[in-house]
Amino acid sequence: MKFTRRCFITASDKVRVGVIGAGYWGPNLIRNFSLVPGVAVTGVADAKPDRRNFIGARYPTIRLFESAQEMIGWDRIDAVVIATPVNTHFPLAKMALEAGKHVMLEKPMCASVAECDQLIALAEKTGRILMVDHTFLYTGAVRKICDMVRSGEIGDVLYFDSVRVNLGLFQHDVNVLWDLAPHDVSIMDAVMGEGAQAVSALGRAHLGTKVENIAYMTVMFAHGAIAHFHVNWLAPVKVRTTLIGGSKKMIVYDDTQPSEKVKIYDKGVDVATDIEQVHRTMVQYRTGDMHAPKIDDTEALFAVAKEFADSIREKRNPLTDAHSGRRVVAVLEAANKSLASEGRLVRL
Ligand SMILES: NC(=O)c1ccc[n+]([C@@H]2O[C@H](COP(=O)([O-])OP(=O)(O)OC[C@H]3O[C@@H](n4cnc5c(N)ncnc54)[C@H](O)[C@@H]3O)[C@@H](O)[C@H]2O)c1
Repeated sequence: MKFTRRCFITASDKVRVGVIGAGYWGPNLIRNFSLVPGVAVTGVADAKPDRRNFIGARYPTIRLFESAQEMIGWDRIDAVVIATPVNTHFPLAKMALEAGKHVMLEKPMCASVAECDQLIALAEKTGRILMVDHTFLYTGAVRKICDMVRSGEIGDVLYFDSVRVNLGLFQHDVNVLWDLAPHDVSIMDAVMGEGAQAVSALGRAHLGTKVENIAYMTVMFAHGAIAHFHVNWLAPVKVRTTLIGGSKKMIVYDDTQPSEKVKIYDKGVDVATDIEQVHRTMVQYRTGDMHAPKIDDTEALFAVAKEFADSIREKRNPLTDAHSGRRVVAVLEAANKSLASEGRLVRL
């Protein structure tokens, strides 16, 4: 394909974005990219006429394409945002990078680690930005949690324990882990850092399909920390709760709360060994205050869109770069292998 991108984008140039996929998530991306100063959404591609009509009625100046390939080849696009099902991410991103466009992929980045590696190599070769939309890392709540962990306030992270369950939306192409867990795995990756060593997962498909609708996944870390994920499409209530246990303090993050999403508990145990009876370990409970820090409530997707545009203009790695996307896919890929063998521990 012809290399069509402008040679470079200066501070005064608008970053011209084309979005592929205007189903459920695409319109949110189009709305937020349209709000970022210095960005223009110039094109949207969707194979379905009703989705193109939906966008056309709201954004009359955006050019609509039936074919993603045609939009990628259009010279009025610098960057492509891909919001289509995961099995289409790799071919579309490859085509866009080969055409000289910067690319932002929806989560999860690709359907396999091998696909992620090919895209990373291609982005390096073409010198283009390759970013993944791990939306939660741009929320005020997760940014606050990461700041607290990095500052040392909660001590060493001992465990990460998340529950993300609700009723529906059943996917036919990916299981519940690939649908719901990318968010939590990306948060785990940011909070715990690298060092995940092995994954074990159990799940069940209850509806006569091969796609698991409930799953429990455990990730083991080199330094003794452990992470656990419970995801479920068949729950009567919506739960979005993460516990992060530190050696000094503990965090409860409840994303369903309208305010006070993050609570920090000065609770824990101090362990002392009784010198008189060396075999007896003394556990003392520490129950201090709880506080709920103020959280920035800017829409995360706006921050995602701005980060993509800024990283293009500043020629730097975005916060959620392709390597973070690959680490998430590596955990999910290992989880699928483990699911297929009833929870066998799979090394990363
Ligand atoms: N970041 C988030 O919080 C978040 C939330 C929801 C979905 N997502 C991700 O967004 C992506 C899309 O999910 P969705 O729920 O919007 O899916 P969807 O099925 O509702 O929409 C996908 C759209 O892409 C179009 N499409 C598919 N292949 C195409 C192609 N080759 N050319 C042109 N159009 C094509 C379809 O016609 C459809 O309208 C997935 O990767 C999903 O994981 C992310």
